[in-house]
Amino acid sequence: MSRKLLLQNDHIEGIQSYDVYRKNGGYQSVEKALKQMSPEAVLEEVKKSGLRGRGGAGFPTGMKWSFLAKPDGVPRHLLCNADESEPGTFKDRYLMEKIPHLLIEGMILSSFALGANSSYIYIRGEYMFVLRILEKAIQEAYNNGWLGKNILGSGYDLDLVVTPGAGAYICGEETALIESLEGNRGNPRMKPPFPAVKGLWQRPTVVNNVETIAAVVPIINHGGEAYASIGIDRSTGTKLISASGNINKPGVYEIEMGITVEEFIYGDQYCGGIKNGKKIKACVPGGSSVPILPHYLICKTASGADRLMTYESLADGGFATGSMLGSGGFIVYDEDQCIVRNTWNFARFYHHESCGQCSPCREGTGWMEKVLHRIENGHGKMSDIDLLWEIQSKIEGNTICPLGDAAAWPVAAAIRHFREEFEWHVNEPVLSQTRNFGLVTEKILNPA
Ligand SMILES: Cc1cc2nc3c(=O)[nH]c(=O)nc-3n(C[C@H](O)[C@H](O)[C@H](O)COP(=O)(O)O)c2cc1C
Repeated sequence: MSRKLLLQNDHIEGIQSYDVYRKNGGYQSVEKALKQMSPEAVLEEVKKSGLRGRGGAGFPTGMKWSFLAKPDGVPRHLLCNADESEPGTFKDRYLMEKIPHLLIEGMILSSFALGANSSYIYIRGEYMFVLRILEKAIQEAYNNGWLGKNILGSGYDLDLVVTPGAGAYICGEETALIESLEGNRGNPRMKPPFPAVKGLWQRPTVVNNVETIAAVVPIINHGGEAYASIGIDRSTGTKLISASGNINKPGVYEIEMGITVEEFIYGDQYCGGIKNGKKIKACVPGGSSVPILPHYLICKTASGADRLMTYESLADGGFATGSMLGSGGFIVYDEDQCIVRNTWNFARFYHHESCGQCSPCREGTGWMEKVLHRIENGHGKMSDIDLLWEIQSKIEGNTICPLGDAAAWPVAAAIRHFREEFEWHVNEPVLSQTRNFGLVTEKILNPA
């Protein structure tokens, strides 16, 4: 059984409330940090922990924090990215809904380390009910002296505000989030300058994911080294995984980094295997943006090693035979699922969510959606498959922000691993629309 550092108390009745949270050890890390540690010492523990950003890119958190210049009197800010809109990813919602004070505790620690006196939680507009939970928890934190002026008599002041977006995926991109928070249209900014130099209102700013910030709490409670002792390689600590699709037990799981993918899919304490005894056909291990893996590359890498739930192992083989841990949105597909339809569905999402600033993404996502739609609906030509390949290759790497890459990668991976199924849609439009996979699934599950 995996050790838990974030969700160990999520089953406790009333843990949403301040009193119950506090009784179960809540806010101890803040007492420790503010009474016994300097901001530099908190940063040092985060560096030692090896914590990497849980928002998708996996950038080392301690390193990101050290990009901020030494405090020089100019206000600086910590922004918590709670915009969580990637299809397949719902772990931040779970954490905020169940244990809102854990995020607030992490915000206090992280803001203290960064020297920020006003910090923000930017939450997805559709999570209005979670926003209400957070507002209540923040008020409780103020009432009990964990926020506001001179916290615990330490001389440190912090104001914390939670604010909703308006339902745009692009506002999860950190510079679009900053624009949106400033009251502008959420278009990503050109980088450099990076937010650490010019972020919110041109001030030094750090943007971190909900889970990243929450992870600072166990790091301070137990020490960075203890955190780093869990996991493998540069994947330390625990990770929240949103598990969905054709599995027996969908939900949010906290895993120790380094368990095998096989254990995660088939283990009773996790997904519990494929629903209705079906065969597994494919898996998207890190949210809709990451490459889909065909069944023979899910539990083993191309070299035959066990695939592990780590940044490194999921990426083993590059995009040719690997994928990414991404935001931990783990979607499992059984033998009855249509890869073309799924790819079209993702493409539709990215087209809808493209901000339109960069031509390759604005135009390319629309074309990919259209071409996939006609293949899926029985009007495709063989040349459409190559056309799709070409369009995605023109988007990747040619946009201001990675939404373009996120739109291109799933299409490329689907064609790379499931070309046969695309061709079958073109050759057998009737069978494919009635989902009568028959022989093609056999071929895909048992490649020659
Ligand atoms: C289109 C797009 C959407 C994103 N959405 C989110 C999101 O909802 N939550 C998140 O934490 N990061 C999201 N990111 C990544 C952020 O830009 C940023 O890397 C992250 O918040 C940094 O936090 P971390 O270092 O703690 O991972 C998104 C990126 C892109 C390009």
